[in-house]
Amino acid sequence: MTRWLTLLSLLIVASVVVGVILTRAQVFAAPEQPIAYNHQSHVEAGLQCLFCHTSALRSDIAGIPSMEKCMGCHNIIATDNEAVQALTSYWKQSQPIPWNRVNQQPDFVYFSHQAHLGAGINCETCHGDVGHMTVAQPVVKMDMGWCLDCHLKQPENKIARLADCLTCHK
Ligand code: HEC
Ligand code: HEC
Ligand code: HEC
Ligand code: HEC
Ligand code: HEC
Repeated sequence: MTRWLTLLSLLIVASVVVGVILTRAQVFAAPEQPIAYNHQSHVEAGLQCLFCHTSALRSDIAGIPSMEKCMGCHNIIATDNEAVQALTSYWKQSQPIPWNRVNQQPDFVYFSHQAHLGAGINCETCHGDVGHMTVAQPVVKMDMGWCLDCHLKQPENKIARLADCLTCHK
């Protein structure tokens, strides 16, 4: 009898653990992308984040590179790769690549890359080690608690502004 009870409770624990893993996996899942773009191979080839995400230092958004930028290399590099051929076919049809967003705040939240990079925070703090990701995926749940947790650790004289609702909700 007790053996069955132990077994039963083990089963319950196991299903709770699986449930937790599945919900976490959902939160951090990478969306499907139209082309299998691989960050790791490009960063290993020596490309810097800002070479492609060129607006990050001077505007709210980081920016996704245009097809022109990709084709500057892929007119000649890896032309026999299937994903590069898919890229080339978007290019030939002058169709922008419909990338899906990985990280996205609701419309009522204001976020700025420029403000954070200007404060010396690097990409990895918020996006994880993208340079070693074959597929870009979210690594932290970027909710209000996460934003405030860091804002409240800033120097005393800035906290009133950084915790003000209207700083993040316009
Ligand atoms: C050769 C160009 C290129 C380089 C270099 C590059 N990226 Fe990207 N990045 C892209 C493209 C294209 C996408 C959109 C497709 C995707 O999400 O994988 C993207 C997407 C992302 C996303 C997800 C955007 C979203 O929708 O939320 C993050 C975060 C990101 N890059 C960070 C980085 C960081 C950090 C580096 C440097 C370590 C870097 N990237 C280097 C081209 C590049
Ligand atoms: C303080 C945290 C933080 C830092 C630092 C940061 N990001 Fe982001 N990033 C975000 C958030 C939050 C979003 C979603 C913004 C939204 O939906 O309005 C985002 C979105 C993006 C996107 C997709 C939308 C866009 O803005 O183009 C890219 C690409 C990106 N980040 C790249 C980078 C790169 C590259 C760096 C470093 C140069 C970087 N980020 C630094 C928090 C950060
Ligand atoms: C500065 C040159 C350069 C730029 C710009 C560039 N790539 Fe690449 N790309 C490379 C190199 C180098 C490789 C690796 C080739 C190899 O391993 O044979 C590569 C490989 C690839 C591959 C094959 C799979 C892989 O990652 O090994 C795809 C798909 C790809 N790139 C897509 C893109 C897209 C989409 C863009 C624009 C967002 C882009 N590339 C921009 C140089 C570049
Ligand atoms: C890792 C720490 C960190 C995280 C995470 C973070 N911030 Fe910030 N944030 C800062 C710092 C530091 C500043 C710049 C403070 C200064 O001006 O000296 C800043 C500034 C800002 C500003 C500009 C304020 C102004 O008046 O100039 C906005 C808006 C903002 N953050 C929104 C957000 C939102 C929204 C999130 C979550 C999605 C977030 N931040 C996550 C550290 C962070
Ligand atoms: C540092 C940035 C920041 C500050 C300051 C901030 N928020 Fe938010 N808030 C967010 C982000 C990011 C979200 C969206 C993610 C989420 O729901 O947690 C959000 C979501 C919300 C939501 C929607 C919650 C939901 O479940 O849909 C409400 C309501 C809200 N905030 C109210 C406030 C109020 C009131 C204040 C001031 C006391 C405030 N916020 C200050 C970043 C901030």
